[in-house]
Amino acid sequence: MLKRPTALVLLASLSLSACRPSATPSPAPAPAPSQAPQPQTDARYSGTFSGGFRFPEAREAAFGEQAMVASNSDLASQAGLEILRAGGNAMDAAVAVGFALAVTYPFAGNIGGGGFMVIRMADGRTAAIDYREIAPLAATRDMFVDATGKLTDKSVVGHLASGVPGAVAGMDAALQRFGTMSLAQVMAPAIRLAREGFAVDSALFRSLSGAKQRLCRFEGCATFFPSGEAVAPGATLVQRDLARSLQLIADRGPDAFYEGPVGDSLVAEMRRGGGIITREDLAAYVPKWREPVVSTYRGYTLITMPPASSGGITMTESFNILEEFAPLPAFGSAEYTHLLAEAFRRAFIDRNAKLADADFVPVPRDELVSKAYAKTLAAQISRTQASKTPAFTAGRPEPEHTTHYSVVDGKGNAVATTTTINGGYGSAVWVRGGGFFMNNEMDDFAAQPGTPNMFGLVQGEANAVQPGKRMLSAMSPTIVLDKDGSVLLVVGAAGGPTIITAVAQVILHVIEHGMTLADAMRAPRMHHQSLPDQIRVESVGFNEQMITALRAMGHEVVTQQGIANVNAIMRVPGGWHGVKEPRGSGLAIGY
Ligand code: GLY
Repeated sequence: MLKRPTALVLLASLSLSACRPSATPSPAPAPAPSQAPQPQTDARYSGTFSGGFRFPEAREAAFGEQAMVASNSDLASQAGLEILRAGGNAMDAAVAVGFALAVTYPFAGNIGGGGFMVIRMADGRTAAIDYREIAPLAATRDMFVDATGKLTDKSVVGHLASGVPGAVAGMDAALQRFGTMSLAQVMAPAIRLAREGFAVDSALFRSLSGAKQRLCRFEGCATFFPSGEAVAPGATLVQRDLARSLQLIADRGPDAFYEGPVGDSLVAEMRRGGGIITREDLAAYVPKWREPVVSTYRGYTLITMPPASSGGITMTESFNILEEFAPLPAFGSAEYTHLLAEAFRRAFIDRNAKLADADFVPVPRDELVSKAYAKTLAAQISRTQASKTPAFTAGRPEPEHTTHYSVVDGKGNAVATTTTINGGYGSAVWVRGGGFFMNNEMDDFAAQPGTPNMFGLVQGEANAVQPGKRMLSAMSPTIVLDKDGSVLLVVGAAGGPTIITAVAQVILHVIEHGMTLADAMRAPRMHHQSLPDQIRVESVGFNEQMITALRAMGHEVVTQQGIANVNAIMRVPGGWHGVKEPRGSGLAIGY
């Protein structure tokens, strides 16, 4: 197998000082979750919340004594489990899940996109790898603005919308550094699923059907809509072109993608459709090892993603502000939701103005994650009155895009990965001969600073398009360590900017409100991203009194059906709980 020269991968990882024993706390008696075998004890409980909203007990958690995988695709989670059972570690399994998602979850799984991975090995090493897409060398600041100064939709649909993909190089680099198996071994389940096909489920059928109009403007139509309609539930979906691409990558390493036949197909597709990604762009792509953002919240340690993702800094800033108010009011109370909104508002104001690819723009990382800075922001927050974000253009709400998966193994190694092609099925451009969708990640740049993007985010000049630059992301793969230094949570989400607030809420539900993981995942979610200046709340779960009280404080409150898509794993006495997003497809499975 050819490997990309490791010298190309910039190493800047950080190690925590010590390996800690994986002790499991165990005081109070547990409610009895449904799936056997179950841990003997569980310090957590199913909560009773203000307004009478009560979650059922932790019935949706899978339990594994040794290992766990949680993703948005049953088959991808099973691919991870297959690798773990074959002796692979959490990284081997994570890379297997990543490639399998490219086959079974084309909505967001990919080799035509990019992502971020946060790693915590059982020996105490931590690392973060950034394999975000980059703007092509021919990209220009105003490439998405027309002659009249109006923003076009070319950053969202079609060949110009794509950044140079990083997924293949990133997953390979992570595997080389932390895995124990070869690329060919961990890719075997994905190749099998693409070559032999798999039975389409109703989730994939519905998702494809909803995207038919966009997808059938491009070449993926024949594969996914063979008779004019989406492949039916129960039918076998075979992806021969994708199987060939994956086999080439397994045989020759990432060079097959960046300097070989898969890249040739990609570049030919770009030429056909007026895209600007060239062979030079592909050859120049390198994933980057980054120093994870490491912070504390009330004695717990959060290890999360630095730029080019905004996720880690924005979440850390929010946690630092909230820590000033701890212990926080009860979950479901207006006082609690108000404090979250005000903390998120301030962190997103900084995010949208100051965060960007730190290789291109100076990012005040140390200041933004400092407790002293959070103290000054917290001092501006009234407990009873909403503040206002300086007015701008209103944005649009976003659907769930992207996908996150969490993996732990029997040794206690943990990998949190979030990957995306941005919108569902990315730019809708499907690479002929290559068999995969291209991302529309260029829309994550401020295509026209000051104007909302697909997610309604209004961002500044720092995140303007520049050749070779990574577009700012919200992806927030995160690992939380218990007070004794052992892995407590492996978590991340899909959903554009709601990723940051949803991941923060699942963590808070567990460490602040003492919920089981199943409850933490099921609990109704809220979101605030500074602009539009409103609290979004899920339409079931929160009571009317809370919404009335928030409005009386001066908040605009809007409801929406579901917010974000999280897949998480939590340590429990005797093993791990895994929970796939209750609002979406997927599987948590362990042993
Ligand atoms: N494409 C969504 C994100 O990176 O935040």
